[in-house]
Amino acid sequence: MFEDLQPAPTDKILALIGLYRADPRTDKVDLGVGVYKDRDGKTAVMRAVREAEKRLLQSQDTKTYLGLAGDLAFNEVMAKLVFGDSADFTRIRAAQAPGGSGALRLAAELLKRTRPDATVWISNPTWPNHVPMMRGAGLTIAEYPYFDAVSGSVRFDDMLATLKTAKPGDAVLLHGCCHNPTGANLSIEQWTRVTDLLVERGLLPFVDIAYQGFGEGLEADAAGLRLVAGKVPEMLVASSCSKNFAVYRDRVGAAMILAKSGTEADIALGHMLAAARTLYSMPPDHGAAAVRVVLQDKELRADWEAELEEMRQRMLRLRVAFAEALRRQSNSDRFDFIAEHRGMFSRLGLTEAQVDRLRTEHGVYMVGDSRINVAGLPEDGLDKLAQAIVSVLD
Ligand code: LMR
Repeated sequence: MFEDLQPAPTDKILALIGLYRADPRTDKVDLGVGVYKDRDGKTAVMRAVREAEKRLLQSQDTKTYLGLAGDLAFNEVMAKLVFGDSADFTRIRAAQAPGGSGALRLAAELLKRTRPDATVWISNPTWPNHVPMMRGAGLTIAEYPYFDAVSGSVRFDDMLATLKTAKPGDAVLLHGCCHNPTGANLSIEQWTRVTDLLVERGLLPFVDIAYQGFGEGLEADAAGLRLVAGKVPEMLVASSCSKNFAVYRDRVGAAMILAKSGTEADIALGHMLAAARTLYSMPPDHGAAAVRVVLQDKELRADWEAELEEMRQRMLRLRVAFAEALRRQSNSDRFDFIAEHRGMFSRLGLTEAQVDRLRTEHGVYMVGDSRINVAGLPEDGLDKLAQAIVSVLD
């Protein structure tokens, strides 16, 4: 039965985890998968999350089913975290999902049920898993230009020009903040213009917000999404707690719906949950429960926000220091954009062959499109790394 199967394509990002682990070199550098690391290369459990887990261990007296939407209090606090306290929650519904990926798939499934002929417009480039995920839900995808590799900035005019060709009812997948893989983000003025276009053309915003708090700050990172939410009749959101709560393996996320009315929002949520039932039934509880405890408790929340801010500031410092090291080593301003970008990633603009050489000759691991995880930069080895990068150029 399996004899005709060809090997499945490997996920380019996740494959790096295995390759890196298998490399015996002690001075290897991991800039691959998007996981926050501290200066010692550790991905710690956040203080507030650990405390919340202790509390859960003591207080939880059952592990019976919660239901298709998971932890309802989690859904409520997550919707507030994303949409902000003053959003119109009568029209918003959320469903806990297994990670941001689960949330994306739930939103895509809802889209398939409600607008089966819609095209989902994705940025070029985007997180590679967006493509199979949308296709897996049976949706058609098309690309809008997003990134200018030479200047390291957003091709905003081209993006708008292409989105003007989308047909009413199509969905536009936007990165809420910290664009993955480029780190080049829309300014608030650009969000305003995108919003106007969405409204004018009757396009559905579908926002993936997986790095809230990693870019300009918790509130600022949601500003674009909130601006859209204030103007459009309907919207889909997939949010993740993997990064900002560092609960990667616990799989914590939420799929959210903004509808024209509460009644329509309830019906849409019902379809999303029906899709969940056929995919995985109910989401895992533990990580979402810990996040809910943190967000509901004033002190734990303050501590979480403080730790998240420390992480963000560290990534900003690394960006500046790495751009300076590259300037020194390359005698050019070619990589200055790294200091301007925000979030966990930037794309260096190297070829796949150059990326391969960095791995084989220098033990430096990054995604084939030359995306680097800024949090993985070695604080005390930036010049050595910059030298290695410069050595593979041309
Ligand atoms: C990444 O982009 O590296 C992360 O989102 C991890 C993943 O699942 O790809």
